[in-house]
Amino acid sequence: MSTSAMDVHHDHAANVLADPTAYADDARLHAALTHLRANEPVVWVDNPPYRPFWAVTRHADIMAIERDNNLFVSGPRPLLMPAEGDDVMKQQQDAGIGLRTLIHMDDPHHRDVRKIGADWFRPKAMRDLKVRVDELAKRYVDKMRDIGPECDFVTDIAVNYPLYVILSLLGLPEDDFPRMLKLTQEMFGGDDTEHKRGEGSTEDLLAVLMDFFAYFSALTASRREQPTDDLASAIANGTINGEPMSDMDTVSYYVIVASAGHDTTKDAISGGLRALIDNPDQLARLQNDPSLMGTAVEEMIRWTTPVKEFMRTATAATEIRGVPIAEGDSVYLAYVSANRDEEVFTDPFHFDVGRDPNKHLAFGYGVHFCLGAALARMEMNSLFTELLPRLDSIELAGEPELSATTFVGGLKHLPIRYSLR
Ligand code: HEM
Repeated sequence: MSTSAMDVHHDHAANVLADPTAYADDARLHAALTHLRANEPVVWVDNPPYRPFWAVTRHADIMAIERDNNLFVSGPRPLLMPAEGDDVMKQQQDAGIGLRTLIHMDDPHHRDVRKIGADWFRPKAMRDLKVRVDELAKRYVDKMRDIGPECDFVTDIAVNYPLYVILSLLGLPEDDFPRMLKLTQEMFGGDDTEHKRGEGSTEDLLAVLMDFFAYFSALTASRREQPTDDLASAIANGTINGEPMSDMDTVSYYVIVASAGHDTTKDAISGGLRALIDNPDQLARLQNDPSLMGTAVEEMIRWTTPVKEFMRTATAATEIRGVPIAEGDSVYLAYVSANRDEEVFTDPFHFDVGRDPNKHLAFGYGVHFCLGAALARMEMNSLFTELLPRLDSIELAGEPELSATTFVGGLKHLPIRYSLR
């Protein structure tokens, strides 16, 4: 029997985790997480309209949970949604019409499906793609120069570049860029009013999903008829035990690639640039020593932690840090908190472009470890390697604004003033 509100003490600091607006307020979110790590690192959160869950805020506990992927599974509640969203997802999946991506799946099916696209994310594929990524990085830094001396770095630069990279990897035509941009933002910015479709109701979100379906079903048909050398063809023609993937798994694969690699990287790039602006000593250090780019990119990813959480469900009664967890309970993995854990990071609230080691959990851990981690790192590396030597000055030209979402989030706007060669 799962845990109920009657069974447990409830620390109200933890309510922020189930409050999208808290994610738009760094100071508020981190104050609560620091308090929880110190006082109640495994805490019950009961804040409607979300169903209750355990939040785990310590780095070591999150790793242990992700490592044990038989005891803690992704289905049926892979991420935090209002109860109504959970219900709709379940109804759709029961009816066989729900999106079922890698993040929703468990082994052995997860392993089989992941294998189909995995080669396209390995180092060899990354090396092949690097020329194209460097070219795109240059295109966007040139654009930044041309529209200067001021721009909104998020909407003018950071949002477009990662999507172009993914469309290139998938092998889709550039003409489809505006449509994909809109769809991925409508899907991932779900809690935030600025990117919502219509009223942001469950029906509106469903309409977004249906648009994805229509687009990618047509893509599958064309790649099956005429395979090309790209990720889209690998997905369209992928087989499991000799059988083609189901239509749902195929479409879901495109959706996860198009969406997971987009806003996440945008958030890391724009939040990374902001961290450099806020820490001019670190910017100067990196400009003077480009060999720090690898550690700098890693620190930007830790610092921004674009994916705020994923969830797992306990398949049997167990304990985390001595706290009893009942079978069927949901567990929220607080990546944002893990990446400021005092037990793992020296001076965790200091942005340090030379930080090494940097064992952050921004890409998760274990069998679901981010498939696109090498791609995200390469994209960021290319962009900052192009940008920093050409940048003579940079400052904020207005207030940066964070998105209000419990899932994938970061800066919505980053107004900057700069001089760029
Ligand atoms: C800085 C950018 C990124 C961050 C912070 C990020 C973060 C994450 C996280 C936290 C997970 C879940 C890991 C877990 O459950 O343990 C994940 C999974 C995933 N990511 Fe990323 N990601 C980023 C970029 C990308 C890119 C560029 C792609 C490529 C298209 C991508 C594709 C995926 C896929 C397909 C999964 C599902 C893997 C699975 O469930 O097996 N991500 N990512």
